[in-house]
Amino acid sequence: MINPGELKNKVFDKEVALQKDKTDPTSYLTSMFELPSDIIYLCGNSLGAMPKTVPQKMSEALNPGWSSGLITSWNNLGWHRLPLTLGDRLAPLMGAECGEVIVADSVSVNLFKVLIAAIKMRPGRKNVVSEASNFPSDVHVIKGALQNFFPDMELKLGEESDQDILNYIDENTAVVCLTHVNYKTGRIRNMQKITNAAHEAGALIIWDLCHSLGAVPVDLNAHNVDFAVGCTYKYLNSGHGSPAYMFVAERNIQDAPNSLSGWHGQMKPFDFDISFTESDTIEKFRSGSPPLLAHLPIEESIKIYETIEFSELRKKSQGLTQYFIELVEGQCKGMGLELISPRNAEERGSQVSFTHQDGYPVMSALIDHKVIGDFRAPNIIRFGFSALYNTYEDVWKAANILSNILKKEIWKEAKYSVRKEVT
Ligand SMILES: Cc1ncc(COP(=O)(O)O)c(C=O)c1O
Repeated sequence: MINPGELKNKVFDKEVALQKDKTDPTSYLTSMFELPSDIIYLCGNSLGAMPKTVPQKMSEALNPGWSSGLITSWNNLGWHRLPLTLGDRLAPLMGAECGEVIVADSVSVNLFKVLIAAIKMRPGRKNVVSEASNFPSDVHVIKGALQNFFPDMELKLGEESDQDILNYIDENTAVVCLTHVNYKTGRIRNMQKITNAAHEAGALIIWDLCHSLGAVPVDLNAHNVDFAVGCTYKYLNSGHGSPAYMFVAERNIQDAPNSLSGWHGQMKPFDFDISFTESDTIEKFRSGSPPLLAHLPIEESIKIYETIEFSELRKKSQGLTQYFIELVEGQCKGMGLELISPRNAEERGSQVSFTHQDGYPVMSALIDHKVIGDFRAPNIIRFGFSALYNTYEDVWKAANILSNILKKEIWKEAKYSVRKEVT
């Protein structure tokens, strides 16, 4: 075994990776996830791995939950209140209080709800500020909401730098709507600075936390954030299409209307009153029946987070991404890769992205060689690292396989250029 003093000069040595794993205080968490032993999974920023307790949970939900519990499970298993109880348990991870978070719908739907609410809370203002590099769905939602319901308002799209966003915010701005960690580059925006600027201009702020929560520290109330939305299927490991969450700061709950008013957002849904009396809690943002079975894995994921000192996880995530950058840049020099993620670990989420002119076939070849990352058009290969289950050995192997694929030009095989529907 190498002693730590020697490690610096031996960065490409596998022993270094093994040593890092050995001294990693969070390494025990890997065993809590189900992952095939023959793959290196670096796509937790798209779909997280499955906690091992999920199958049992789902099996109990089906039998007896559904099979014999039938309709009574809404009461007896706490299913009706699950959107709220899961929200309360997610709240500490984002620096929120109980009663400020609800689990419901998709990110796009939740964004629509909080956006309309925020615009209505700033009547007479002329624009919404967002970013050209935002996840497309966020921009589609904003554009659709403005075109359909606020045709006199304008969408202003800033460029990637925080300063460019700040330049757009003024007394005409109703709402600033941004993604905290950029999905392509992994760059973290300065939440405090931009939130302050929005408030100083009298605007409200909405943060999309899809690539943040569970991966980087998030402290919404410390930053005085108004609204936030995010998904549970990436770093929160809750499965394909698991429901999203929304945060509404306590001070905004009363004034924020839900534009998708439905019976689950009523004060007393089971009075079946035809006149709508909105709930006076975050539950007003419920609309219809929750896809209950899809909510259940979220609890299994939260249970893991509840046992962890988050700063340890962040430290490991930074260690994994830093190591990957060092290995790839050291071993793949002159092979067409360009790092587009921040070099400074403090500015980087839990992913590393490179551009490569032939990014699609390079990623296809990697996947074929059991390193699962993903591709984002037009030329980005992304590697998401979950500090919960990725190891330094994974990083070492992935970098070596990538360098081999590039060196031997394996990606040039015709089969790797055939585009799949989901990239
Ligand atoms: C940053 C970001 N925002 C929004 C979305 C859209 O989420 P949903 O499909 O749940 O609406 C995604 C999906 O990956 C995303 O990454």
